[in-house]
Amino acid sequence: MNFDEITRTRRAVNFFDQNREVPRELLDRMIELAARAPSSFNLQPWRLMVLRDAEEKARLRKLAWDQPKVTEAPVVLIVMADKTGWQAGNPTLEKNWTEMVRSGAMEEAQRDWFLDAAKSLYGRSPEASLAFAVKNAAFFAMGLMYAATSLGLDTHPMDGFDHEGVRKAFDISGDDWVPLLLAVGYRDPRAETAPPKWRKSVAEITGGG
Ligand SMILES: Cc1cc2nc3c(=O)[nH]c(=O)nc-3n(C[C@H](O)[C@H](O)[C@H](O)COP(=O)(O)O)c2cc1C
Repeated sequence: MNFDEITRTRRAVNFFDQNREVPRELLDRMIELAARAPSSFNLQPWRLMVLRDAEEKARLRKLAWDQPKVTEAPVVLIVMADKTGWQAGNPTLEKNWTEMVRSGAMEEAQRDWFLDAAKSLYGRSPEASLAFAVKNAAFFAMGLMYAATSLGLDTHPMDGFDHEGVRKAFDISGDDWVPLLLAVGYRDPRAETAPPKWRKSVAEITGGG
């Protein structure tokens, strides 16, 4: 499938085939492809909680506007965005630092510069930290959806859920924000997919510029 086909085939699928599991290896492949997403300073402030268990999905559905796809999809991903991903001591930042030094992209002596640069951009306010986490995790999430389509899977992104409720019920740290839930599976062959939705034109997006 080329990119044009991927963008046309991907839909927010409402009805999933409840008799078709998503093999672990396929889900791993999808995540691996999405993990190639770009991120600020390559800080990759995203993580996933993978729900397959019927009871866990039922618990989530109660907190997600009772949307049937939460229990009908074989897999639901809770996408988490780490608001502290720019701070010294954060495990991913530290791994990134080690990698940058190892690859020669940065020198040890530049550590303070690097930490100050990240702090000045993302640590200047709670809003900046939230924006840092969510914009990067959203690129990753888009990658998950396109990767899924390229592998023959279907998805449905959801932000219709009780954020605090989900955080408490699934022990998600206050450092993380949940930009979306993502149902993953195979569309139900008996259900009709709604016609493609309208999109803004190029002129509407650019103002004709
Ligand atoms: C971040 C995000 C949150 C969404 N939340 C929901 C949701 O909670 N429930 C729902 O039915 N659809 C949800 N949608 C799906 C959108 O309505 C859908 O993507 C849009 O109408 C375009 O349709 P398409 O994806 O099939 O092209 C969400 C989409 C995104 C990107």
